Amino acid sequence: MLKIKIEKTAHPKPKPTGPLGFGSVFTDHMFLMDYTADKGWHDPRVVPYAPIVLDPAALVFHYAQECFEGMKAYRTAAGRVQLFRPDKNGERLRSTHERLCIPPIPVDDFVQAVKALVAVDKDWVPAEEGTSLYIRPFTIATEAQLGVKASSAYQFCIIASPSGSYYPTGIDPVRIYVEDEYVRAAPGGTGAVKCGGNYAASLLSGEKAHRLGYGQVLWLDGVERRYVEEVGSMNCFFKIGGVIRTAPTAGTVLPGITRMSCIELLEGWGYPVSVAPLPIEDVMRADEDGTLEEVFGTGTAAVISPVGELKYRDRAAVINGGRIGPVTQRLYDTLTGIQYGRLPAPQGWITEVE
Ligand code: COI
Repeated sequence: MLKIKIEKTAHPKPKPTGPLGFGSVFTDHMFLMDYTADKGWHDPRVVPYAPIVLDPAALVFHYAQECFEGMKAYRTAAGRVQLFRPDKNGERLRSTHERLCIPPIPVDDFVQAVKALVAVDKDWVPAEEGTSLYIRPFTIATEAQLGVKASSAYQFCIIASPSGSYYPTGIDPVRIYVEDEYVRAAPGGTGAVKCGGNYAASLLSGEKAHRLGYGQVLWLDGVERRYVEEVGSMNCFFKIGGVIRTAPTAGTVLPGITRMSCIELLEGWGYPVSVAPLPIEDVMRADEDGTLEEVFGTGTAAVISPVGELKYRDRAAVINGGRIGPVTQRLYDTLTGIQYGRLPAPQGWITEVE
């Protein structure tokens, strides 16, 4: 159990009015906690939101020893504020820390820290349909020195941003470019953890997709450039001939919490779900023979995002006439129903913020 000090701002900012974008407005406070080799993780505190001052030699700037999480706080119709499976974010942060040689933060401490910040900034959790407080925990290496090694000092920080939909198109289907030139992850690399470097490496390809008129990239595996892995900021599902298929996370695909929740919901509804390598040719062949029924992405920021078109080499598959399919819609309605408290949640999925 952390002993969190709370220092409230003397200068609260005005809350945004009008439609919310994604991740560009920040609340009045942030959570900070430091690590040094002699003290371990210490000094947990909620303080006024402010710039972080670091030595220019801090290891994070040079060798990218940093990582992050993404989660949301939702306001229910009754005005309660709740988190969705925050323990799963804590578990994933722990495995990311392990991969990046960062000392672990106990899952309970992580959840307590998130709750403490959201409780202080509770008034920032927006109430309009489809909005939420996006929460961004992250850890950076702060030791000032230029040798390539694991830092001996870190800062863990949580910031929060009242947000609307991640894609400017909302729940309208996205058009996706299948990338067969660049790769996102290779076995043994960092593809299955949430470090910023994975996203930096994806930018060039994202720009290429935008130039070609597509909203996102679908990554293929890094060895054969053959098996579908994930889409830009989401995991990806394909409904082919009644079976819902998604890539295994096995080292190169991020184990998404929305992905995991969708698999659990789909299995509970009796759909056959196959978590196994899926060649892109099988997807395109399914399009040709009319069995590619639905494609959708899942992610905390993106929620459930229907895919309307897949472009692979010189072929374009238009999925379900470019419209959201029934399973995608059911998942969206159920997941958001649970998150916003309109539907009962499976045991342990919802944590209320007092
Ligand atoms: C999330 O879905 O929360 C993510 O972290 C994806 C992203 C915005 C990078």
